[in-house]
Amino acid sequence: MRIALGSDHAGFRLKEEVAGMVREMGHEPIDLGTYSDESVDYPDFAVKVAESILAGDADLGILVCGTGLGMAMSANKVPGIRAAAVSDTFSARATREHNDANVLCIGARVVGSGLARDLVSAFLGASFEGGRHVRRVEKMKDIEKKFGGAR
Ligand code: RB5
Repeated sequence: MRIALGSDHAGFRLKEEVAGMVREMGHEPIDLGTYSDESVDYPDFAVKVAESILAGDADLGILVCGTGLGMAMSANKVPGIRAAAVSDTFSARATREHNDANVLCIGARVVGSGLARDLVSAFLGASFEGGRHVRRVEKMKDIEKKFGGAR
């Protein structure tokens, strides 16, 4: 799969590691920045990754900031994006299987690179289960439509 990657300055170093992990796991990382420790604003990179997915340039995305939270909040403002900030492997897997999440958000100040590897592996290794979960994901899309989202 093609995996769009984004981070702010707080997530930069872990994002660089995640790019290597993604490659080792047999996927193609698409690094959309940031490219240094210089201070930047996380919403700018959440939008880059979201747009890459919506354009069909990437299949899934991974965003890294200090906590993962600002990235998830920002990405979830984009209709069609379902971003989950997780720090345990059960949730990383379940959010693909149940929520059809298309963006994984990781907090570089929350998890180390060992756990980040397990989160990425669990997320990329899981698939949406469909079935009863389809109705619930459709209801999330209905919320987007009701409150102004287009997709
Ligand atoms: C940057 O200091 C920090 O606020 C950001 O990386 C992130 O944790 C926000 O949610």
